[in-house]
Amino acid sequence: MKIGCPTEIKPQEFRVGMTPNAAQEAVAHGHDVIIQAGAGMGSGFTDEDYLAAGAAIIDTAEEIFATADMIVKVKEPQAGERKMLREGQLLFTYLHLAPDPDQTHDLLASGCTAIAYETVTDDRGGLPLLAPMSEVAGRLAPQVGAWTLQKANGGRGVLMGGVPGVAPAKVLVIGGGVVGTHAAKIAAGMGADVTVLDRSLPRLRYLDDVFGGTFKNQYSTAGATAELIQTADMVIGAVLIPGAAAPKLISREQLSTMKPGAALVDVAIDQGGCFETSKATTHADPIYEVDNVMHYCVANMPGAVARTSTIALGNATLPFMLALADKGWRQACEDDPHLLNGLNVHAGQLTYYAVGKALGLDVLSPTLALKA
Ligand SMILES: NC(=O)c1ccc[n+]([C@@H]2O[C@H](COP(=O)([O-])OP(=O)(O)OC[C@H]3O[C@@H](n4cnc5c(N)ncnc54)[C@H](O)[C@@H]3O)[C@@H](O)[C@H]2O)c1
Repeated sequence: MKIGCPTEIKPQEFRVGMTPNAAQEAVAHGHDVIIQAGAGMGSGFTDEDYLAAGAAIIDTAEEIFATADMIVKVKEPQAGERKMLREGQLLFTYLHLAPDPDQTHDLLASGCTAIAYETVTDDRGGLPLLAPMSEVAGRLAPQVGAWTLQKANGGRGVLMGGVPGVAPAKVLVIGGGVVGTHAAKIAAGMGADVTVLDRSLPRLRYLDDVFGGTFKNQYSTAGATAELIQTADMVIGAVLIPGAAAPKLISREQLSTMKPGAALVDVAIDQGGCFETSKATTHADPIYEVDNVMHYCVANMPGAVARTSTIALGNATLPFMLALADKGWRQACEDDPHLLNGLNVHAGQLTYYAVGKALGLDVLSPTLALKA
């Protein structure tokens, strides 16, 4: 197969769909890999790195889209890229089609086959191609929260780990899933006094078994949240109700009960945010203040650490990408129902029920699409 990886063109996107190591593996499997010149630069990979891996460097995205059998990317194709997709071509990337009718219609019109990272599943009911970005955002949250807490940034001027004789910062993490667990681990590692709230008892049992001595956990209720935010220096919002907007767990009124200069880090902002006063911000201007409480609400946190994020995403996508290239999408999806769950579009038809429901479009069963 000829595998093409264009430069990401979405604003503020520095990741790249294939690392040199991934390119090398694909070449070792007998595939041709073409990378757009400069595609890896935002993540610290040079064209020479890709050449050394056995890939070819191509000047323009047009040439890549015109000749590749499979396009591997990070972000959903932008309008100009969608025009270049063609019938029979395979697209493997994040799509997030449900809120994006324009993109959905363009993909259907292109005739391509599109497999979305975010709907590929695993044996444990998880989303293996979303998890690495949640790990990154979770680990980043205490780091950006600690920066927000600094006096010059409007924060309370509290050091995460304290010092001998001075108490550490109190960090409350709401939601103990992938983001929350990684956030709690790092905050505890920085020396903070950490409590995690979750509504899932099995999850709390897991956290207690594995991290019992490292951080505390408590069942999440409105009352527990109201009590704990009064003493918190930092609150990290990390809840997810799959398929729904994030619940608002701290109201504007409650901000007055918090310590002046406390930091709210709303990682769930990409699902609308879990604090009433959250609004999405960018890396260029990440924080703002409401009622003396500092808010950090960057919707694409992994972009701040593009190199780590690219490598983490590449590790997760590699086995699927190789299966698609080695076997072709039909056989690969027939062999692996989790990869088949990633199939969103095939030959002008939608193949993912939740997207069809959200956009009011007909859906062809993915298993029928395999035979189409
Ligand atoms: N801002 C970013 O850049 C970025 C990056 C990655 C992920 N995210 C977002 O972070 C959020 C969390 O993702 P995740 O991968 O950790 O999800 P996850 O499903 O692994 O974890 C979510 C947890 O929230 C818990 N929960 C649900 N309602 C709750 C409530 N009322 N109180 C306490 N806990 C509650 C669930 O039981 C679950 O354990 C998602 O909205 C995701 O989209 C944002």
